[in-house]
Amino acid sequence: MNIILLGPPGAGKGTQAKRLEEKYGLTQLSTGDMLRAERKSGSDLGRKVQEVMDAGQLVSDDLIIELIAHRIDQLEGGKGFILDGFPRTVPQAEALDRMLKEKGLRLDSVIEMTVDEAALVDRIAGRFSCAKCGASYHDRYHRPKSEGVCDVCGSRDFVRRADDNPEAVKTRLEAYRRQTAPILPYYRAKGVLHPVDGMAEIGEVARQIETILGNPK
Ligand code: AP5
Repeated sequence: MNIILLGPPGAGKGTQAKRLEEKYGLTQLSTGDMLRAERKSGSDLGRKVQEVMDAGQLVSDDLIIELIAHRIDQLEGGKGFILDGFPRTVPQAEALDRMLKEKGLRLDSVIEMTVDEAALVDRIAGRFSCAKCGASYHDRYHRPKSEGVCDVCGSRDFVRRADDNPEAVKTRLEAYRRQTAPILPYYRAKGVLHPVDGMAEIGEVARQIETILGNPK
C-alpha cells in the first residue's frame, strides 16, 4: 500500500506516519527528515538547502524530485510507503505519477489532514523530538511517558527545529496555501483524496486514517 499524508506544517503528518509504519509495516518517506539528515551530515546538498529551509520556503522541485526518486528506488520489495511532506507542488505531484508509473506502482490513498491554522502555531511552538530516533513530542499534547526519556529508543537527548519560530512558521503556512493546497483538486479528481479531522486527539486521528485504509494485510 502506498499513501500520501497531506496537510500544512504541524498538521500531524509525521506523528501519524510513525504510527502507520508500526501498524501497517509501511516505510515513512519524509522529505523534511531527508533534508535535515543532509544538513546534519554537512553534505553539499545540506548546505545548499539550509537557508531556504530555515526561512520556511520550499526547496526547488528538481532537487526534491531527485531525492525522493532515489529513495523510492531503494524500497523495492517492501510493503509500501507513506509519503510525508511530498508532493508539495503540482510539478512534484506530476513527477510522482511518472515515477510510480515507471515502477508499476500505484497510489492507494491521499489522506488530507484538515486543521485550524491558529492551532498550528501553538502545536509547532510546543514541538520537540528525540535527537536519536526522531520520535516527535509536544510540551502539552504528547509528552514522553517517562519525563525526559524517549518512549521509542530511551534516549535523553531532545531537539527543537530551527524553522519552528513564528516568522518561519508564517512563511511555511503561506507556502502551503499558495503552493501545496493547489494539489488537492489534482488528487480529488483522481478519486483518491480522503479528508480526516486533524484537530482531533492523536489516537482519534489515527483511528480515522485506519478506517480509510482498512486492516493491515
Ligand atoms: P517538513 O519537515 O515536511 O515540515 P512541515 O510540512 O512543515 O511539517 P511538520 O514536520 O512541521 O509538521 P507535521 O505535519 O509532520 O506535524 P507533527 O506530526 O510533527 O518540511 C520542512 C521544510 O523542508 C519545508 O519548510 C521545506 O523547506 C523543506 N521541504 C520538505 N519537503 C519538501 C518538498 N516536498 N518540497 C520542497 N521543500 C520541501 O506534529 C506537530 C506537533 O503537534 C508535534 O509536537 C506533535 O506531537 C503535535 N501533534 C500532532 N498531532 C496532534 C494532534 N492531533 N493533537 C495535538 N497535538 C498534535
